[in-house]
Amino acid sequence: MTQRVYLIGFMGSGKSTLGRWLASAMDGWTFLDLDLFIENKYHKTIPQIFEERGEDEFRKMESFCLQEISSFEKVIVGAGGGTPCFFDHMELMNRSGLSIYLQLSPQGIYDRLQTSKSQRPLLQGLDGDELLDFISVKLKEREPFYKKAMLIADAEKWKVDDFIDAILKYA
Ligand code: S3P
Repeated sequence: MTQRVYLIGFMGSGKSTLGRWLASAMDGWTFLDLDLFIENKYHKTIPQIFEERGEDEFRKMESFCLQEISSFEKVIVGAGGGTPCFFDHMELMNRSGLSIYLQLSPQGIYDRLQTSKSQRPLLQGLDGDELLDFISVKLKEREPFYKKAMLIADAEKWKVDDFIDAILKYA
């Protein structure tokens, strides 16, 4: 059985929530949030890293951490929304584990982001139609990467048990 499951998808698609549920339901597995891993390693929050070092530097740190994590065992990894779209990350994830894309419509993402926009540097200052437009454009740009995932799950419909079945089936 695979040792790593990577949950990928746009900001707000529910990677962390689902990842925590899955890890608690799967014996011996832990959830690892890539953003938190970066924050702990560099002792800075994601907004601080973006502000002080810029996005390019953040992407290098993200890549370094993903490579480290790709050798951990029994981990459900919640990737950042941009992780799959930089360097060879989709190939790395597909080589080292099972990647699952949590697919949602722009409106579905928009609805879910209402409560959690503030910690996300890329969404600062965006509201209403501007936010929905940003999500639509960015999602279109990112979907070709997300769609390289080994499994694509409709995040509106899939239940935790469906994910567990899919993970267990994956040899
Ligand atoms: C980003 C998503 C964030 C975080 C950073 C950049 C992105 O993670 O990595 O703010 O480029 O979509 P979440 O998807 O967990 O919010």
